[in-house]
Amino acid sequence: MSAPVVILGIESSCDDTSASVMVDGVKLSNVISNQTVHEEFGGVVPELASRAHQQNIVPTVQAALNQAGIKPSELSAIGYTRGPGLLGSLLVGSSFAKGFALSLDIPLIEVNHMQAHILAHFIQEKEKTTPIPKFPFLCLTVSGGHTQIVQVNSHFEMKLLGQTKDDAAGEAFDKIAKIMGLGYPGGPMVDKLAHRGNPNAFEFPKSKMQGLNFSFSGLKTSVLYFLQKEVAKNPDFVEQNKADICASVQKTIVDTLLGKVKRAVKETGIKSIAVAGGVSANSGLRNELKALGEKQGWKIYVPPFEYTTDNGAMIAVAAYLKYLKGDFSKVGMAPMARLSVENDLGWKS
Ligand code: KG4
Ligand code: ZN
Repeated sequence: MSAPVVILGIESSCDDTSASVMVDGVKLSNVISNQTVHEEFGGVVPELASRAHQQNIVPTVQAALNQAGIKPSELSAIGYTRGPGLLGSLLVGSSFAKGFALSLDIPLIEVNHMQAHILAHFIQEKEKTTPIPKFPFLCLTVSGGHTQIVQVNSHFEMKLLGQTKDDAAGEAFDKIAKIMGLGYPGGPMVDKLAHRGNPNAFEFPKSKMQGLNFSFSGLKTSVLYFLQKEVAKNPDFVEQNKADICASVQKTIVDTLLGKVKRAVKETGIKSIAVAGGVSANSGLRNELKALGEKQGWKIYVPPFEYTTDNGAMIAVAAYLKYLKGDFSKVGMAPMARLSVENDLGWKS
């Protein structure tokens, strides 16, 4: 029997420091250290994020190894996020990964964060089997920084079919929550309040973006103007109607996303649909996508909550799949703030 492949995956692209240990594709640990320092600013402050990553990286990696019961000497390789993301944040994770791999004399594997969100669907767990999508499938990747529809032909062969031309879906949730004074990150708050609201209480315009592209900045502006107008008449309008406002905003965003998914299915003929990224934690999106899938006869793949927002396990699984191909990274590789989902990195780049 060949030796097990033991991967340490490190994620530090935005405001979560995360590390995961995976043995032969099975997750043994996935430790996520959130940064609360950004809350009072209502958004991620890049310089504060990189400082917090510096504080968190060693204890987070240590906790991931401890929870997995794995010693550094047992690691086969280290995977890290090369991009896209905030450069200062990426630098912390990639520098740590390089130093650790050099000291252990093991290979380094660079991972594209956007591919990793999608590859989270391939994470295996010890006591649970989650269905794994068959190729080709479509993935709706919705996060704080991106909104994309991707055709996934194989683990690392991805084609970008459409994306947002301005704000990402998560950004729309966060900015509207900020206007309403709900705190940061706003997505989970809007989701929670939407549960007890009426999604048809208010109507907001949906963008008419061509083809498979998205636009969410108009929605944010229309909510802002609507609330300004209502608050001028009744200063307590937001407080009195926050559940209905959240439910209506959420419905507008979910309907927009699912409208594009329908179009992508029609254009490609592919009827296996996965969803990934932080916004895929949204209960409205999860439920509506499952319901649509049942109605249309599509196969729907919704990730466990733990793998929706940024996490080390998605980096570890991508690195594991690259390890099997012998696709390693040079120690001199620099992080990339901008990176297409179509770029699988590695020796070729
Ligand atoms: O994937 P992620 O952790 O980071 C990026 O790569 O951007 O996504 C974070 C985004 C934030 O905008 C956050 O508000 C949103 O995901 N989010 C949600 C929910 N949970 C997280 N949006 C709507 N509903 C949720 N339940
Ligand atoms: Zn992400």
